[in-house]
Amino acid sequence: MSTPIRIGIVTISDRASSGVYQDLGGPAIQQYFTEVLTCDWESVYRLIPDDQPGIEDTLRELVDGQGCALVVTTGGTGPSPRDVTPEATRAVLDKELEGFGEQMRAVSLSKVPTAILSRQTAGVRGRSLILNLPGKPKAIAECLDAVMAAVPYCIDLIHGPYLTTDPARIVAFRPKAG
Ligand code: MTE
Repeated sequence: MSTPIRIGIVTISDRASSGVYQDLGGPAIQQYFTEVLTCDWESVYRLIPDDQPGIEDTLRELVDGQGCALVVTTGGTGPSPRDVTPEATRAVLDKELEGFGEQMRAVSLSKVPTAILSRQTAGVRGRSLILNLPGKPKAIAECLDAVMAAVPYCIDLIHGPYLTTDPARIVAFRPKAG
């Protein structure tokens, strides 16, 4: 029996992690993948404050220790002094993939003018793709829908596991050889 594909879900928020409010972003990411993925997968969830060394440690642990093929963060991408998710992400990446952030902002801008405030990025660490999303729960499906078609092939290219999607939601694009 093959082991389920692991997906890290990381909510980065001072207030949610200290109990000021409930984390809605993490469950929204879980819900999204439950609806979209048809392969066997399991989540590894973390709820942490906006602290750069702590975010870096969590990302390293999810990729290197837990073997997550994909790690999705929510929160900490904006311009406020405590927003450091993109810096922490870049610090642990082997390669940045700028197109993910560009595409998520472009699609989000057609929905909300403040999408321009998100510095969200993405990239590769080892055999894992790390992807930043903004903290607003409604941004999660908007942003993932904008890039999800390219995620399975990206994970193929870095020798990760084979992700499959429900084509009624997302058609995973895998270019044919030749
Ligand atoms: N993107 C989408 N799709 N939908 C949104 O509502 N909110 C924006 C932006 N991107 C938003 C969005 C806002 S208001 C901010 S401040 C930035 O993301 C950064 O959010 P964060 O610091 O919570 O990550």
